[in-house]
Amino acid sequence: MSMIENVKAKARADVKTIVFPEGSEARTVCAAAILKNEKLAVPILIGDPAEIQAAAAAQNADISGIRQVDPKTDGKTAAYAEELYELRRAKGLTKEGADELVLDPMYFGIMMVKMGDADGLVSGAVHSTGDMLRPALQIIKTKPEMKLVSSSFLMDCPDKSLGEDGLLVYADCVVVPCPSAEELARIAIAAADTAKRLCGFPEPRVAMLSFSTMGSAKHALVDKVRDAVKIAHELAPDLLLDGEMQFDAALVPEIAAGKAKGSPVAGRANVLIFPDLQAGNIGYKITQRIGGADCFAVLQGLNKPCNDLSRGCSVEDIVNTAAMTAVQAQGM
Ligand code: ACO
Repeated sequence: MSMIENVKAKARADVKTIVFPEGSEARTVCAAAILKNEKLAVPILIGDPAEIQAAAAAQNADISGIRQVDPKTDGKTAAYAEELYELRRAKGLTKEGADELVLDPMYFGIMMVKMGDADGLVSGAVHSTGDMLRPALQIIKTKPEMKLVSSSFLMDCPDKSLGEDGLLVYADCVVVPCPSAEELARIAIAAADTAKRLCGFPEPRVAMLSFSTMGSAKHALVDKVRDAVKIAHELAPDLLLDGEMQFDAALVPEIAAGKAKGSPVAGRANVLIFPDLQAGNIGYKITQRIGGADCFAVLQGLNKPCNDLSRGCSVEDIVNTAAMTAVQAQGM
């Protein structure tokens, strides 16, 4: 069974409620209909009911029985606004500001998750990554033990000799532009957790990537990765994690044998940590476009699961992301 089929089977076993702030968006209504029919999640669509109905009719999507929520008229809007004000008043949000902000479907959806009226949220078919991330960071916040939100890309590669039967976890490719050594260590630990809980890796083996392998090059950028390795070992002593190492030393046993002899990770890594967002974002796109990998993205470290879509996403991408969000919610 492929990774995503496995995730869908898990989602069906304990169905969760997933809210979609972009409820009248064409691909989103189609995805909601599929999620309901395939019993992958209970979808909630946020938006003007007339616009949601019009989108569904235009797409020939059967959304009968799917809950629609309009922040302008919903019975919980006032309570959400009050809570939003309490959460953000120290940051300068006024009561009037909260009353207005809660009408934004993105903030309304995040408040539904915060208040336990939905188990998770999926957005980003229209919103930019930053506009989706900011309310989640401000309101849902991190799990106490994580301290940092980042992302993992699950790369399902055609070459099944790589990683875990062709599956590799890449981090961070979306959130933290320029991580410090400690942040890099925390990204690595979070990605190993995602590999274990969401992908079912029995043994995450984490490679901290660089342009140097075990001291082959000297540079401040390499030092940062080496420091991250030390910090990660202190924070998670039982985790199989090593570095710094180059991409090929992480994945190819023959190269690892020459450059990183004795490493418990080199040549057999299944979780790859990129030194910054430019490397991670470029790396996943090369793997996808030139390597032919299917890729699936999740945010990690949030106190409740919220996930971002690419604006070019397909209906299938939305369904897959909702299924992953539902599985993340099961562990919370
Ligand atoms: N983890 C936890 N909390 C965070 C993080 C983080 N990584 N980043 C910011 N925060 C918190 C801040 O502490 C702050 O909290 P507070 O308001 O309660 O004090 C809140 O989030 C907002 O922080 P800001 O610094 O004001 O937010 P900023 O405007 O910098 O936005 C963001 C943060 C959106 C994550 C930014 O770093 C960003 O734009 N990252 C890159 C996103 C992107 O474009 N990715 C690439 C494209 S996606 C793709 O290709 C699939």
